[in-house]
Amino acid sequence: MNPLNHVAIIMDGNGRWGIKKKNSRNSGHKEGLKTVEKIIKQAVKKKISYLTLYAFSTENWKRPKKEIDYLFRLLENFLTKKLNELHKNKIKLKIIGTKNFSPKLNRLLKFAEKKTSNNKTLQINLALNYGSKSELIDALRKLKNSNRKITEKNLIKYLQTSNIPDPDFLIRTGNTKRLSNFLLWQLAYSEIFFEKKLWPDFNEKDFNKIVKEYKLIKRNFGNV
Ligand code: IPE
Ligand code: IPE
Ligand code: MG
Repeated sequence: MNPLNHVAIIMDGNGRWGIKKKNSRNSGHKEGLKTVEKIIKQAVKKKISYLTLYAFSTENWKRPKKEIDYLFRLLENFLTKKLNELHKNKIKLKIIGTKNFSPKLNRLLKFAEKKTSNNKTLQINLALNYGSKSELIDALRKLKNSNRKITEKNLIKYLQTSNIPDPDFLIRTGNTKRLSNFLLWQLAYSEIFFEKKLWPDFNEKDFNKIVKEYKLIKRNFGNV
């Protein structure tokens, strides 16, 4: 059976759920946050070490300001309310992506990272203003300036995910089959599960089913 260390998720489908149920995309984002909490708890139960959640891409700035503002308010409220609980459960929070939000949110994110930095149960990598292409460009620039040799091993050191093993598998909910600029390097050998359900409808049972399926896959890594 395959060991399970790192799960990455593209949490897609909030907007469609919100429109369908309440005629507002934002209500889908609010509901999606409940799924986030469920899946975090499930990841702890399953003793997964890393959970990487795609919450906001570098491309998502194209969305209407009203939606963007709502998303970041949701995140701010969530952290304000739940940070102590996360910390009590020994969860470590790391942001991947560029923190260029409001000064208040930037401070809150840095505070949350620092407060939880020694926790060892589960590490949540929250991808916020994250884009894989800009991550790679940035890493290449740093590698070049370091005068180190351009090798895989050296490049990895400058990715935002340095010190984090590559995801064992990726789940994308929302019935869409693409990567949307998420972890292009890191997913090179990950198993990929495209899930029809919209993120707010996704639950522990769906997650467990995927874990079970993943464990039985024959992973070759080029070998036979
Ligand atoms: C994903 O859900 C969440 C974010 C990008 C923040 P969407 O908002 O993309 O939902 P759909 O794809 O429009 O339904
Ligand atoms: C990907 O979803 C980003 C997040 C889940 C944060 P999108 O809904 O933004 O992806 P595209 O634009 O449909 O590819
Ligand atoms: Mg979407």
